[in-house]
Amino acid sequence: MDWLGVYAEKIMKKVNIKNFKKSLSKFTTGVTVVCIKDDNEVYGKTVNSFNSLSLDPPLVLFSLGNYSSSIETYLKSKFLTINILSKTQENISDHFSKKNPDTNNIDFIEGKHNTLLINGCIANLECKIADKIKKGDHIIFICEVINIRYDDNLKPLSYYNSEYN
Ligand SMILES: Cc1cc2nc3c(=O)[nH]c(=O)nc-3n(C[C@H](O)[C@H](O)[C@H](O)COP(=O)(O)O)c2cc1C
Repeated sequence: MDWLGVYAEKIMKKVNIKNFKKSLSKFTTGVTVVCIKDDNEVYGKTVNSFNSLSLDPPLVLFSLGNYSSSIETYLKSKFLTINILSKTQENISDHFSKKNPDTNNIDFIEGKHNTLLINGCIANLECKIADKIKKGDHIIFICEVINIRYDDNLKPLSYYNSEYN
């Protein structure tokens, strides 16, 4: 091994779940809650794997663990909302990161396609699910954005190093 290899060996960490999660936590993200309605049951999940994908057509993506308790319901949905949380909605993020969170006391606004938008968000995207790709232990949801709502006066909730900022 040359000197560069020896140096790299010293400073690089092993790729295991703990180190992998820790390194990814160094990437600052926003926080979203992805909501679906199945019959009259409402589901929401805190998600920070959200990202933009395409401008034309307008596509976004996020991923869900295939081990999630409600994954089957998300997989059979046609429409969903991606609710981008504002600075004051840390409690909403914590709430929707629990298993089977109660949705009765959430301030929802009706969307156009039997969907629900969370009120007070910095932005809400109403989406049609365009594709689902299984990769590793997650499923990537590719979504076409069909309706948009945003508020220029709010500040975003961000997440870094496993903490809200
Ligand atoms: C800030 C934050 C971001 C998260 N992002 C994701 C994500 O992108 N994908 C995912 O599957 N779970 C994510 N989670 C975990 C889920 O919100 C939730 O804890 C988990 O899905 C609950 O278990 P269940 O799905 O089995 O009910 C995140 C949690 C937090 C606190």
